[in-house]
Amino acid sequence: MNQTKRKGRRPLVAQNREMTEPVLPGPGATDYERYLRTDELLSLQKRPEERSHPDELMFQIVHQSSELLLKGAANELDCAREAISEGDYVRAVKLMDRAFRMFDPAIDLLHVLGTLTPYEYHIIRAGLGHGSGLDSPGFIALLHLAPRLGQAFFDQLDNTGITVEEMYRRNREFIALHEVAEKLLDFDERVQLFRFHHMKLAHRIIGADVLGTTGRSVDILRQRQEHVLYKELWEARNEITGIVNARSKMEEQGHGRN
Ligand code: HEM
Repeated sequence: MNQTKRKGRRPLVAQNREMTEPVLPGPGATDYERYLRTDELLSLQKRPEERSHPDELMFQIVHQSSELLLKGAANELDCAREAISEGDYVRAVKLMDRAFRMFDPAIDLLHVLGTLTPYEYHIIRAGLGHGSGLDSPGFIALLHLAPRLGQAFFDQLDNTGITVEEMYRRNREFIALHEVAEKLLDFDERVQLFRFHHMKLAHRIIGADVLGTTGRSVDILRQRQEHVLYKELWEARNEITGIVNARSKMEEQGHGRN
């Protein structure tokens, strides 16, 4: 390379160094740490000398990660709710799929806790006070959002002037709205799945006939697990089966007459 061309250029090593120097404000040696606030994040778990049991780090990480994932899922579903209200069903479906990709790992994480043995859990539990998943901000956010998300859908159904049964019967005509309805059921199923796996986890670790940290019976987990979010959409299946059965009965009777 000729000398005149190289003049004025800093050596590559210096250029590279400049590109890795942090430019964002805040603590942390790199922009990665500053942006993600990893110092703070990684100091949110008990230090080894503070832990009641070596498994406590895993216990805290699973819970904290679940809270983040549920927060993320609730945020996407809230954006989906807005998209539904704006009639942008394609976007709503995309956002709901994204939410599920955050919800699913939170369900999976419950199985990590299934590796705790009952006696070890009780050592950790002794330090939980009245701490209960009933106060989980992430799960509460999802439960608060669920009816509003459903309302956005049912408002659009009303605006279209069709019933739920009609939407299923004429699904090709109303395919976009139909897709949203199916995503609502996917969400509903996931909430039930979370509750089912969580209930099995509680049974495995502390038992099914005991009291939780807030003095309530563990049986409330079974009761809650049976709850559905979008009853109207599930009941439409009964209605449709009823209509089809009645129709075939009439046909049979008709044939009988001939
Ligand atoms: C060893 C692990 C766990 C045990 C033994 C356990 C046990 C329980 C029990 C007994 C309850 C009933 C209420 C109470 O008495 O506190 C409950 C509620 C709850 N827990 Fe857990 N839990 C565990 C892990 C988790 C994790 C990782 C999450 C994730 C966020 C979670 C979220 C919840 C939620 C959302 C509820 C309310 C249930 C509902 O609305 O259906 N739990 N848990």
